Amino acid sequence: MSQVRDILVTSALPYANGPIHIGHLVEYIQTDIWARFQRMRGHNCWYVCADDAHGTPIMLRARQEGIAPEALIARMSQEHQADFAAFRIGFDNYHSTHSPENQELSNLIYQRNLETGHIVQRIITQAYDPVERMFLPDRFIKGNCPRCGAPDQYGDNCEVCGASYSPAELKNPRSAISGAIPEQRESEHYFFKLADFESMLREWTRSGTLQKEVANKLDEWFAEGLQEWDISRDAPYFGFEIPGHPGKYFYVWLDAPIGYLASFKNLCNKTPGLNFERFWAADSQAELYHFIGKDIIYFHALFFPAMLHGAGFRKPTAIFAHGFLTVDGQKMSKSRGTFIKARTYLNHLDPEYLRYYFAAKLGPGVDDIDLNLDDFVARVNSDLIGKLVNIASRTAGFITKGFDGWLAGQLPHPELYQAFVAAGESIAAAYEQREFSRAIREIMNLADRANQYIAEQAPWMIAKQSGREQELQAVCTQGLNLFRVLIGYLRPVLPGTAEAAESFLRIPPLSWASIGRPLLAHQIAPFKPLLTRIDPNQVQAMLAEAKQDLQTKETPEGPASPSANLHLERDPIAPPIDYETFARIDLRVARIQQARLVEGADKLLELKLDLGGELRTVFAGIRAAYNPQDLEGRLTVMVANLAPRKMRFGVSEGMVLAAGPGGKELFILSPDAGAEPGMRVK
Ligand code: 2FM
Ligand code: ZN
Repeated sequence: MSQVRDILVTSALPYANGPIHIGHLVEYIQTDIWARFQRMRGHNCWYVCADDAHGTPIMLRARQEGIAPEALIARMSQEHQADFAAFRIGFDNYHSTHSPENQELSNLIYQRNLETGHIVQRIITQAYDPVERMFLPDRFIKGNCPRCGAPDQYGDNCEVCGASYSPAELKNPRSAISGAIPEQRESEHYFFKLADFESMLREWTRSGTLQKEVANKLDEWFAEGLQEWDISRDAPYFGFEIPGHPGKYFYVWLDAPIGYLASFKNLCNKTPGLNFERFWAADSQAELYHFIGKDIIYFHALFFPAMLHGAGFRKPTAIFAHGFLTVDGQKMSKSRGTFIKARTYLNHLDPEYLRYYFAAKLGPGVDDIDLNLDDFVARVNSDLIGKLVNIASRTAGFITKGFDGWLAGQLPHPELYQAFVAAGESIAAAYEQREFSRAIREIMNLADRANQYIAEQAPWMIAKQSGREQELQAVCTQGLNLFRVLIGYLRPVLPGTAEAAESFLRIPPLSWASIGRPLLAHQIAPFKPLLTRIDPNQVQAMLAEAKQDLQTKETPEGPASPSANLHLERDPIAPPIDYETFARIDLRVARIQQARLVEGADKLLELKLDLGGELRTVFAGIRAAYNPQDLEGRLTVMVANLAPRKMRFGVSEGMVLAAGPGGKELFILSPDAGAEPGMRVK
């Protein structure tokens, strides 16, 4: 056996203000499969995580619930951990960023970077909510875009025309919390000089640490120039106060990744022989991997390694980024009922199914993966029940009935068994490279061969003929041994099924090495079905419950990453207008005749709208929410008498109506059936 590796892996820390949903689970399942695989190969693999407990949204949510932030994060942590446990995410430790270990390490990393001159102070001017008496993060300010005038835009960029600006430039700005007009106030902030680390980062990012697509993205960022990073926030803030600066707090994104170290430190404190330095010292030989969503690469591939380097810690061996989850080809959506919480899934379906389906879809890149619900049912039923479990269910009964559970002392077809064992190296290489879909394909090919073997041997025919008992025992022993190999290979993906199979076979937990030795002259337990078929009604019931979840209103969440917390933002209701003002808006039904990407504008789609004869061109900030081809032919509602606006990409002749906070969470309005292009909306 090759050398035993010391490996530490992490998944991104979920925010402590929202539930775990199936989008999150792509990452935790991916990481867990990889960690379980490493352990089966005999390596020392530690998997740690924590709740990401700090920041303005968590402070506000606690306030809204009328509880202390500490109480909120304690409750969330319990809920998260229960969900993860149910999905058999096998963390070695689950901690919190609001912990003494994290405070100590955050202070240390800050202090060391300060001493070496990588942190500077500057006075900045920022929006301040005089009612809430707090500075407003950019996403808590809304107003009209300074360039195109679009209402209801966030404080950093316009989703309609694509302009970027500072919150101070917004017209008619409002606090999204109180609705008050923000004031501009000065405050002293602390900045991390990321550019100091440029040459180190360029070298580090080219040393096999990043996937190709990610390395390309980084090249773009380097070309744009590395900006100083504001690492401080003013009180009131839920976080750690910066040493020596009362009233100033570390920004949540400073202490979040340090939470990886803190969780591991906490684990070391309770695990004799586990040494923190061995994994985190600058010269550490241990391997360190962070599994993350592609939306938080900047933090993990630039800020985090730079801070670690500046403080004399080691840098990650690699960052493994993945794509987002879509459901039936579309982003998860609360209104479509496809925003499925982990708990909602668990109320209807076995977690092993989702683990299997995600594994069957996951590759090493950053492509999004789709949970197609029909395919999910078909695939799980065909592969897991039709192929895998079938091998045991067609052979075990004969061993129990005819031989008191005893397997034969020899395999009748050792070469077939050896072929299964030999396939293990290629399957292991696939797991190692995070090519889980390839691993599953290869394993299922073997399952087909095992089923073919049983069909050819037809033990049910042998059983009918007296004098062929030994042959019957041998064939069933062969079948069960092939089953055991397959269970071994699938163990990282299906830990629950593997455990049940191990107790049925009365064997200790399978390792990669033990797969190589057949199970002979051994007494097994009576067979019980290991998994049952999915009834499509279970999926329908889950979707119905997910839709219901929508009714039980959730509070605002954020700062959201698309992969993690999707958020519903409650906008303050605008001041009243009279009827005449409303009546001046000419709303019309329009058919989207054509939808196209706009080169150089990653937020916009160019729409050709048919108003019942008249064609209009409208640029709409809905790129993140829709694929152009999905829109073509749809009816929607547009403001037809909006004065044409000249934009960078052409003239926009109106506006389509959509609901939602923006970005991926944006929903175009459609009239009921029967409406025709050109009809007036009133
Ligand atoms: O994007 C998110 O959901 C963050 N809570 C992830 C933090 S990962 C790490 F840096 F802590
Ligand atoms: Zn704009």
